[in-house]
Amino acid sequence: MKALILAGGAGTRLRPITHTRAKQLVPVANKPILFYGLEAIADAGIKQVGIVVGDTADEVMAAVGDGSDWGLAVTYLPQEAPLGLAHAVLIARDFLGDDDFVMYLGDNLLKQSLKDFVERFEANRQRALSPTLDGGDEHGPCAQILLKAVPDPHRFGVAELGADGSVIRLLEKPAEPPSNLALVGVYLFDARIHEAVAAIEPSARGELEITDAIQWLVDRGLRVRTEVLDGWWIDTGKLTPLLEANRLILEILERCVEGEVDEESDLDGRVVIAPGARIVRSRIRGPVIVGRDTTVIDSFIGPFSAVGARCVIEHSEVEHSVVLDDCRVVRAGRLEDSLLGHHVEVTRSERRPRATRLMVGDHGTIDLQ
Ligand code: TTP
Repeated sequence: MKALILAGGAGTRLRPITHTRAKQLVPVANKPILFYGLEAIADAGIKQVGIVVGDTADEVMAAVGDGSDWGLAVTYLPQEAPLGLAHAVLIARDFLGDDDFVMYLGDNLLKQSLKDFVERFEANRQRALSPTLDGGDEHGPCAQILLKAVPDPHRFGVAELGADGSVIRLLEKPAEPPSNLALVGVYLFDARIHEAVAAIEPSARGELEITDAIQWLVDRGLRVRTEVLDGWWIDTGKLTPLLEANRLILEILERCVEGEVDEESDLDGRVVIAPGARIVRSRIRGPVIVGRDTTVIDSFIGPFSAVGARCVIEHSEVEHSVVLDDCRVVRAGRLEDSLLGHHVEVTRSERRPRATRLMVGDHGTIDLQ
């Protein structure tokens, strides 16, 4: 079993952050999203990993290296343009050979362990190959997909299932979804997917869709097994789900205070203060993570916030927000539900009357309240 992680793509929905950074490297609870996927793959016992990279290849390669930090052997697979998830499989043909593989979208985060998901696929295939085992049949699944009931299925790939739970039809972002079951960004395939991705044509949006490739398998009478996820799953490609992912991960962090906290400060609940951080006359109400060498002075950091490394937060309140490395937030009032990129400054001058003075990059979003 190999793994194919998709870490190319355009990331348009997370601009402006993705103008300068791979969306898979945006941190959740101060750790790049992609690292959670690598951990899940290593935990599932998979060693050989292909990572599909696009314009942000250098950055992804610098962050992941040869994969040895996770006990993985990583091969990088450059994709000339984001031509679709099935296109990523197409270009990975040589790397994948005829092995089974898990395809993992590098911006997805899920609670369920990948290990169990992989084991059940393999068990079903073994059973199919061995007629003596209980339930043995010769039609083992050629693919396995993971589904999640969502309130807004039209935003996702959607599956229509038969009574036995196998796939009848898959549709990409349908205007009228046949069910509320969205495709989670983790798939298992055997080598038959290669024929499918080579056979399909680009969709109306110009991409080779993985839903079309899986549909191609179904149309040929092959069995695509499904599982419905009960734990959480987040496609982090937009601001609101990214903040939500941050909330879910922070909720399961262990309290750990390694930085310096003065006597006048107050830490409450699940709080991680990284080494070198300084908390002065401030209140931190967890779950919160404060990164290395960050200084918090006369401020309040409220629940579900992740502040990166080397930031300065002074005379401000930050709640339910993600602040990336090297930001300065000084006399900023209260920041809520916000995402600040790297090296962002939010300050308020002492001059009156109050006015808002902005220097914001392309595709910035400012919601004044
Ligand atoms: P998407 O979120 O579907 O696409 P995107 O990254 O282009 O984002 P946006 O819609 O905001 O412009 O991609 C899912 C994951 O797969 C993500 O990690 C990027 C990756 N990907 C590739 O590696 N190659 C591709 O051709 C595509 C479409 C996506």
